[in-house]
Amino acid sequence: MKCKITMGFLCRGDDLAIDKAMISDIKNSVNIVDIIGEVVELTKSGRHYLGLCPFHQEKTPSFNVIEDKQFYHCFGCGKSGDVFKFLEEYHQISFLESVKILGERAGFTISSQSLGEQTQKKHPHHLIFELNKDAAKFYHAVLMTTTVGQKAKEYLYDRGLTDELIAYFNLGLAPDENNYLFQSISSKYEEKELTSSGLFNISESNQLYDAFRNRIMFPLTDDSGNYIGFSGRIWTNDEFSQNQAKYKNTRTTPFFNKSYELFHLDKAKAVIKKTNEVYVMEGFMDVIAAYRSGIKNAVASMGTALTVDHVRHLKKFAKKVILTYDGDSAGQEAITKALDLLSDLTVEIVKMPQQLDPDEFVQKYSEQELVRLLEQSRISSIEFLMQFYMPTNSDNLQAEISYVDQMAQLIAKEKSLTAQNTYIYKLAEKLPDFDYLQVEQVVNNYRLSKRSEKSNTSLRVSSVNQEIQKVGHTTGLLKAENQLFHRLLHHEHLLNSFRNRDDFRFETRELQFLYSILKDKGELTTLDLAQVTDSQRQAYYQVLEENLPDEIAEHEIEDIEERRNFYLKEQDLKKQSQYIRESSNQGDVESALSALEALIEQKRHME
Ligand code: UTP
Ligand code: MN
Repeated sequence: MKCKITMGFLCRGDDLAIDKAMISDIKNSVNIVDIIGEVVELTKSGRHYLGLCPFHQEKTPSFNVIEDKQFYHCFGCGKSGDVFKFLEEYHQISFLESVKILGERAGFTISSQSLGEQTQKKHPHHLIFELNKDAAKFYHAVLMTTTVGQKAKEYLYDRGLTDELIAYFNLGLAPDENNYLFQSISSKYEEKELTSSGLFNISESNQLYDAFRNRIMFPLTDDSGNYIGFSGRIWTNDEFSQNQAKYKNTRTTPFFNKSYELFHLDKAKAVIKKTNEVYVMEGFMDVIAAYRSGIKNAVASMGTALTVDHVRHLKKFAKKVILTYDGDSAGQEAITKALDLLSDLTVEIVKMPQQLDPDEFVQKYSEQELVRLLEQSRISSIEFLMQFYMPTNSDNLQAEISYVDQMAQLIAKEKSLTAQNTYIYKLAEKLPDFDYLQVEQVVNNYRLSKRSEKSNTSLRVSSVNQEIQKVGHTTGLLKAENQLFHRLLHHEHLLNSFRNRDDFRFETRELQFLYSILKDKGELTTLDLAQVTDSQRQAYYQVLEENLPDEIAEHEIEDIEERRNFYLKEQDLKKQSQYIRESSNQGDVESALSALEALIEQKRHME
């Protein structure tokens, strides 16, 4: 066996597996950002944290702490490693000493003996795990073999459970008594374990009594299947129960960290690894509903909002997360928060209909319907956010503008251009005041600003209005129209020949308005400009900014017009495709087909 670690317990063959597990447990129970953050001032920079390297002298920070991967790296001196390595290097201590420091900090008891000669055979929480497991056995027996258990089982049957499911999830019942659990298992354990297990409270007279009473018990396990705690649900209608929290959990202990653990992960992880997907739900009953429908890779964050630690935990097993939170507004709100944390995993969302949670959905419809929903009704995070943030009042243009702005930023980040275009269509479809091109322009701007951010010139984005103008500058159609207007403004003979073209109109609304004045009066005076709207005035100055030589070149006007016509056709095609999409979405296949035919014909002409 190859082993660099020389101190006893870590290298002895028999013990290696369990000790490895302990080391990884210790590592999981701390966050490298917190540990390093205590001695190095770190600031968040994108997905990393950045600070001055503690291992070499530097004035500009090049020391990176990568939270999701839990390691550090200095681009200055090249030092890198995990949280143990950091402590070793920083305090000049051995690996085992760093394990010990962190282990104790996280509540593991590691004696110096256990680091030395004596063999530490078991996980330091072994006894607590055993104790919780014994308690689970006790609660399960109460549920399965007592008269009151029979009633509780009927409650569960009513909710769609079977004996098989009760056995699989090892559900139980805490009796409505003060100390039955205590009496049943206390003789096997020391007081130290009993008190630290979280299963008992201490009375004023210094007696231990059961922490859970008259609740349906859901055992909680870590991802290796160790029993670490419980959640108990009220199930009777008496006044006392009704005034209690619906679910009561084991208090946070060194071996039960609610922000890291996920219900059912131990059993789901094999399927998660195989499918690379995990459904994240809110509650126990939702995971059970999924399981009984045949979806075995669902876990629950147990009511608490998803945390960075949960995400770190999920990443160990899955590449894709399917958020399946309750359909009520709290659930939907929670999805938006979770999306922030899940940014470097693939995420899909199942929007539960009619404010239902997955359990209620199965109850109301069927297991098959739930499977169909979970597997076939997923949407992307952008689609979700588009629906979530959609302004409710369509008269409020300002709200629509900032909504488009917000969504455009997200769309511009999307890697695939095809997907970007689809989202642009979808967004334009939703908004009566925006068409495809307008939305595209806003997205374009973020595409540009993304690029310029990369090249380190920061382009501050202020308001959509301005951006549409700015980007408008660069779109082909507006460019051509600006040039044409410029020529009309300064060359009377050209203006005269255009005056005879009754059907000529500028596509750009502002230019068309200015053109109507120009046609009438032959000029645009300062007074005229004082009376037009802001955007019309801006359009005028944009025209003036066109850097054209005084003389019109040969074929210049034809060239401009040709370009302009090209862009007009292109725009028309886009509108038609949008129309086709809409009519086929609305099931109007007939119009979709004939529009499609016309479109193909036109494209042929353009080529
Ligand atoms: P919910 O209130 O959505 O309950 O809480 P639920 O899962 O639908 O449960 P049922 O169907 O009423 O039995 C979601 C999760 O939040 C945690 C539990 O883990 C629950 O499954 N929770 C909820 C608590 O920890 N304490 C509470 O008081 C309520
Ligand atoms: Mn429920």
